[in-house]
Amino acid sequence: MIEKIKALKTEIENITVSAKEEVEELRIKYISKKGQVSQLFEEFKNVSPEQKKEIGAAINDLKNFALDTINRIKESFETGDQSASGLDLTMPGEAIKLGTRHPLSIVKNEIIEIFARLGFVVAEGPEIEDDWHVFSALNFPPEHPARDMQDTFFIEKNPDILLRTHTSSVQVRVMEKTQPPIRAIFPGRVFRNEAISARSHCMFHQIEGLYVDENVSFADLKQTLLYFAREFFGEKTEIRMRPSYFPFTEPSAEVDVSCSICGGKGCNVCKYSGWLEILGCGMVDPNVLDLCGIDNKKYTGFAFGMGIERITMLKFGIKDIRHFFENDVRFLNQFEAAH
Ligand code: DAH
Repeated sequence: MIEKIKALKTEIENITVSAKEEVEELRIKYISKKGQVSQLFEEFKNVSPEQKKEIGAAINDLKNFALDTINRIKESFETGDQSASGLDLTMPGEAIKLGTRHPLSIVKNEIIEIFARLGFVVAEGPEIEDDWHVFSALNFPPEHPARDMQDTFFIEKNPDILLRTHTSSVQVRVMEKTQPPIRAIFPGRVFRNEAISARSHCMFHQIEGLYVDENVSFADLKQTLLYFAREFFGEKTEIRMRPSYFPFTEPSAEVDVSCSICGGKGCNVCKYSGWLEILGCGMVDPNVLDLCGIDNKKYTGFAFGMGIERITMLKFGIKDIRHFFENDVRFLNQFEAAH
């Protein structure tokens, strides 16, 4: 019987309780009339007279021990100190594993920061647009191929509702609502009906810039883009402007940066030319200013637009655009941790 008493004592010593309701269950289990400790008193009747003294004392001790333990646990729930319940609330918690920022967000935020230093604010517009904001107000002639089904995802025809094919639509929305000075950038997602491959996707991101004020010149455009290129790709970066054509800018240019990988000497990334194309730009066509309700005699402006995927691929040496949208954690985990 002494063995039984000892075993019960060890059991009570090791009690752990996680909820207040369990305390009452313990009381019933051990010290109620039918409880295990009370049962020992029943068995005590059959103990031989020589053992009565020793066993009687042991049972009494056990009863007091059980009472003390259960009261202590009960109290701990009432006072909030749960160290007695076996739960150590001072233990450090398990660290929650943080995710990492998406490389496109890292680059987008960096671009926004660079232009913020020049006083550009951020504005956004809808991804589902109408013909006016994506094409007509931007001077696209009615038969321009970009309007074609092969490029544009249409949601409805006549009147046309479509997924924007470029963030230049936000230029129109901002100019319609605000009079100059306007100095803003517009990051966002764009859609084109293109075959998906390592180099192109039907969904990607652009960042558009617009500066409209009195006396804004092509020199301002060039210096702004040079500043951006050096902040983003490094201070030794050079830029080169090549004449180009966009319906909404006149004159228009495409901008190359000196290859940040080979420093302009020529490598397989820049196809041995030493230059990488990063954006399109130009002086806002006076016609566009007029269509958006801005006095084109008083104001001039410049605009530019670049693909975020493209410069992210250049910056991090990513070879396949599809990685951005597959959500493979082995890819995503390689970038800066979120804070
Ligand atoms: N919207 C053009 C595109 O998607 C990029 C662009 C070119 C934007 C010239 C501009 C610009 O603002 O001035 O290819």
